[in-house]
Amino acid sequence: MKNVLIALSCVMIMGCVSDNSGMINADDDNVVDNGNGTTVNLSDYFSIDFNDLNNYENQDIPDYIQEDNSPNGNQISDEGATLGRILFYDNKMSENNSVACASCHKQAFAFGDNEIVSIGANGLTGRHSMRLINARFGDETNFFWDERANSLEAQTTMPIRDHAEMGFSGENGAPDFDDLINRLEAIEYYPELFTRAFGTEVITEARIQNALAQFIRSIQSFDSKYDEGRAVVNSQNQPFPNFTDQENLGKQLFMQPPNFDNQGVRIDGGFGCAGCHSAPEFSFASNSRNNGVIGVFGSNDIDITITRSPTLRDVIGPNGQSNGALFHDGSALTLLDVLAHYNDIETNNPDLDNRLRPGNNPQQLEMTPDQMNAVVTFLETLTGEDVYSNEKWSNPFLEN
Ligand code: HEC
Ligand code: HEC
Repeated sequence: MKNVLIALSCVMIMGCVSDNSGMINADDDNVVDNGNGTTVNLSDYFSIDFNDLNNYENQDIPDYIQEDNSPNGNQISDEGATLGRILFYDNKMSENNSVACASCHKQAFAFGDNEIVSIGANGLTGRHSMRLINARFGDETNFFWDERANSLEAQTTMPIRDHAEMGFSGENGAPDFDDLINRLEAIEYYPELFTRAFGTEVITEARIQNALAQFIRSIQSFDSKYDEGRAVVNSQNQPFPNFTDQENLGKQLFMQPPNFDNQGVRIDGGFGCAGCHSAPEFSFASNSRNNGVIGVFGSNDIDITITRSPTLRDVIGPNGQSNGALFHDGSALTLLDVLAHYNDIETNNPDLDNRLRPGNNPQQLEMTPDQMNAVVTFLETLTGEDVYSNEKWSNPFLEN
């Protein structure tokens, strides 16, 4: 009750100020003065307090995290990432106002999708949506399962230009990217938000890319059980004191490379996962070929072009829930399915990574059920909590 009274009296005082002076409070960043006598109150649209932006720029990053693909020209700023957040959640970024980036990259599922393929503005995606956790913390600068985008910035507007996903393709009479820019220029708050992020109100594809990439790079997850353990040891290869024996065994098997006989059957050592999913970021090695998963969802075609995986952090959600199917074709529903794949790789396609093909035989890891369960419990330690609920990465629109 007391809070309500304070809130009411604030509204009344602010009302009085503007009645008396006939001017808006120039210090209030929630109010935009359009210069032509009209004002826009951002609080009518967003849950964001523009007088006290969320911190995206100086987030805590553990000192053992060394990889970072932020380019010099596009470091994260609070204003840039805030604009990126708004664009990421705005349905107006699709031709028919039906989907936003967030439709297929859902915070509750580590910014991936619980559907195997996702519904876009004009159809289904051909591949499973990728989780967007810690996209910044990898050396690899190419994005997408097949790495066809050569930077995160370049990636961000490819879904907008894709006919099925967001529809500004310019093909067959569909609107093109200039139509999107015209649309954003006419929305009463965007010119001001671009000014705050980039200095002038000009809206360009490069600025949209920079803002979206800043927001995506800000999405970080370092509050897992793994991080708690890693913080108190000198080397990631030591057993972690906060881990169970099973989790430590799983870690060791994940980290150590295997030794094979000349038939491709493992004799000893670990399972070699970290050779491609490198710890402690669990980001993806840039030199990998495909891992033998070559399916195409909903078809008998094959696809041997898959050379990237999202980080293996937050594959599973904080309540043990699945954050969606695994692999580009959604062919693994659980981590045990994933291990069954690596245990006995069945195809020997020309692009199968050499590490998975010792002596030109697809690898057989000979995992025992206990070892499989150990690797699964280890992978479950890579899940954080904050990223699923922190409002700084949530939908900022009051109505959308
Ligand atoms: C209709 C669903 C859909 C929409 C809308 C969508 N995405 Fe995606 N996103 C996907 C799918 C599917 C993939 C994987 C596609 C592939 O690799 O061929 C993906 C991949 C990505 C990746 C690559 C991640 C990595 O680690 O390589 C990024 C980044 C991304 N999307 C950002 C965005 C942004 C930004 C938007 C909005 C402008 C957006 N997406 C809109 C479905 C979607
Ligand atoms: C030679 C490199 C390589 C090695 C070694 C490797 N992987 Fe992978 N991993 C990949 C590639 C490539 C993908 C993407 C495959 C796809 O989607 O079709 C992937 C995908 C995954 C995924 C799914 C990620 C997602 O978001 O869908 C999991 C989980 C995974 N690997 C776990 C493991 C484990 C556990 C091991 C050790 C037993 C391992 N990987 C060894 C290359 C490798």
